[in-house]
Amino acid sequence: MNKKTITDIDVAGKKVLVRVDFNVPLSSKDPNDDITVTDDTRINAALPTLNYLLDQGASLILCSHLGRPQSAADTQFAMDPVGARLGELLGRRVQKVDEVVGTQATAAAAALQPGDVLLLENTRFEAGEKRNDPELSSQLAALADVYVDDAFGSAHRAHASTEGVAQEMRAKGGPAVAGFLMGKELDALGTAVSNPAHPYVAIMGGAKISDKIKLIDNLLNTADKILIGGGMANTFLAAQGHNLGKSLVESDAIPEAKRLLDMASNQLILPIDVVVADEFSADAVGKVEDVWSISPEKMALDIGPATLDRFNAELQGAQLVIWNGPMGVFEFPNFAEGTNQLALLLAGLVEHGAQVMIGGGDSAAAVHKAGLTAKMTHVSTGGGASLELLEGKTLPGIAALDDK
Ligand code: 3PG
Repeated sequence: MNKKTITDIDVAGKKVLVRVDFNVPLSSKDPNDDITVTDDTRINAALPTLNYLLDQGASLILCSHLGRPQSAADTQFAMDPVGARLGELLGRRVQKVDEVVGTQATAAAAALQPGDVLLLENTRFEAGEKRNDPELSSQLAALADVYVDDAFGSAHRAHASTEGVAQEMRAKGGPAVAGFLMGKELDALGTAVSNPAHPYVAIMGGAKISDKIKLIDNLLNTADKILIGGGMANTFLAAQGHNLGKSLVESDAIPEAKRLLDMASNQLILPIDVVVADEFSADAVGKVEDVWSISPEKMALDIGPATLDRFNAELQGAQLVIWNGPMGVFEFPNFAEGTNQLALLLAGLVEHGAQVMIGGGDSAAAVHKAGLTAKMTHVSTGGGASLELLEGKTLPGIAALDDK
């Protein structure tokens, strides 16, 4: 990485503003409930950076967005449950203030002593966050001496607490550097973009092809094969002339799917069988059908066993595998087999020396659910951010940091 990191600067006795991505799942959307964090993966992932800074004698001011609130009135997205869980994981007191910037936040930041941890309120409670308002960025920068960005999951957003604050910190003469998680994500996923080992196999899934056309276009330049599963495979199959019954097909995207198939039919590997059902429901019973004979009244909800065999054959000998998007409706146990079996297969490849990277979001959740996170080479904490990185885009949150 060509950006400075926390090991390049001195933070002893400094107040360090750390942008983390603590956008974590919560137990309830009702502000009257006792809301708790239901998956603390992203909080755990930031601990190496936070502990390092504390060990170096810094005090921390942490900020993050949480969910997609419209305003501060959406109190179900307040950071209190995150602060509580962070305190448990850090094993120290985390003081939380009920504002992002303002008199309370300024006073609390000014009173910090080395080793203290302050958590600001949800950055999206401020209208200026998403429009990257320089006034909000400058107020955030004013709280601290140093800015550290460890929020890989938010690096694709040019917001006031990511891109804007880095610029403001530099303008006032302070460093703006990356944390360990940011470095780890870029090392892992960045290698796939710039210097992939071959054979390199990408696996794409998830519901929509329209979200991933740019990614597939970019991967066709670097990957040897792209295995396609999940709902997006339906659109490719429809483009090949198959009848998909009641399956989800993005009709608008069929021309794009045709273009990709015309351009790279040897690289794109599609399902040959699918698990179909009468309806989209957890109770629906699955049945395997070949893709050329899907019943008109059925919908495809998972890849079938012959497809898994085909994918397995393509994956043998791969040195690098990137997986983004589940193979079916893995939230329903009856249609999770394709995703789970694929995760197992990938864990086996890692044992044989392959590098396997899991793009964040649903694929990370699926691997986590299958209990295989620790078996993978890298499981990204970023959903949209990892997609945009693999698309070859520059992520504004990273671009704004100090160069080495
Ligand atoms: C994510 O969960 O992908 C990041 O935290 C970004 O969240 P956003 O899509 O609401 O900006």
